[in-house]
Amino acid sequence: MPVILSGGSGTRLWPMSRPERPKQLLSLTAEETMLQLTARRACGERFARPIVVANALHADMVEEQLAQAEALAQALVLEPMGRNTAPAIALAAVAAGGGPEPLLVMPSDHVIGDVDAFHRAIEAALPLVHQGWLVTFGITPDRPETGYGWMQVGEEVAPGVHRVARFVEKPPRDRAEEMLASGDHVWNGGIFLFRADMYLAALAAHAPGMLVAAQDAIARARVEGGRIFPDADAFATSPADSIDYAVMEKADRVAVVPVSMGWSDVGSWDALHEISERDEAGNAHGGQVIAIDTKNCLVRSDGVRVALVGVEDLIVVASGQDVLILPRGRSQEVKKLIEAMKGS
Ligand code: GDD
Ligand code: MG
Repeated sequence: MPVILSGGSGTRLWPMSRPERPKQLLSLTAEETMLQLTARRACGERFARPIVVANALHADMVEEQLAQAEALAQALVLEPMGRNTAPAIALAAVAAGGGPEPLLVMPSDHVIGDVDAFHRAIEAALPLVHQGWLVTFGITPDRPETGYGWMQVGEEVAPGVHRVARFVEKPPRDRAEEMLASGDHVWNGGIFLFRADMYLAALAAHAPGMLVAAQDAIARARVEGGRIFPDADAFATSPADSIDYAVMEKADRVAVVPVSMGWSDVGSWDALHEISERDEAGNAHGGQVIAIDTKNCLVRSDGVRVALVGVEDLIVVASGQDVLILPRGRSQEVKKLIEAMKGS
């Protein structure tokens, strides 16, 4: 059963991504939103209808987008507050009944170009999943990225599936460089496949407070049709942490399916420029944009007209009352801007 995580805030894609409409609910790489594209990746005969875990503030938008994509959720778990991914997945696992059913946990913040390859990787993983392993999907790294999880690929434990010798979430730069050079490490694609009961057992071992909070929050949930509102007081007691730190770095029997599936994280404006279709001058424009003699720019507007002459290597994003301008290569610093604006 697919579990779609749609609760992140996506601050690095400000000003288009905002708390009231974060990046997973935006159309960034295609006409459809990131959430719709994610839902479509796991629909059809071989998949059950998904459980979508999102912030309660976005309930209507999430429901509307899923309906538009004809990917109705079997349940919408609406978090009263964000506690990061490990507790969000715990809510889904408990809501799904906590049994041996495999959960395919998918974040809604990246693109997969080759969906058939993704489905083949899932098939390869399933036998081990049934045996109780926690399975991840491994992406060949091409830079010493410090924003991802890294996994050392160990011996093959089933055709195409390897034991994870070590899982390192968001390493410091020097460590990432070593792992890149080693040739036997892959990135964690952020997608997980495991039995609901095995995930809950891993929480019991490594993060018992999260397990109890999720169980209480679902036991005392308010249910309205397909909407599940976990109890806020119970969920508030959960420690906040990601599945990567709370579970994957610590659990035994973690496996990885290395897969080449055109995976790309849409984590920043630079990343979006890289994966967008560009004209012959290297520009990726969206919205009302007029550009003369410009090169290698990403320019997007969801309202006002943006006009440029004679510039290169710029990112320009206009949304509502806000305009962001920065040189390409520095879009990670949008996070700093958000911090600075909070203080102003
Ligand atoms: N429901 C819910 N609640 N979803 C959440 C929450 C939450 O509190 N926090 C984050 N999410 C969603 C985000 O919307 C995103 O789709 C997904 O969970 C992953 O969260 P991120 O915050 O984007 O994680 P990350 O990018 O820093 O790291 C993860 O992804 C990398 C690949 O993109 C890790 O799994 C890394 O190991 C991995 O390499
Ligand atoms: Mg992410």
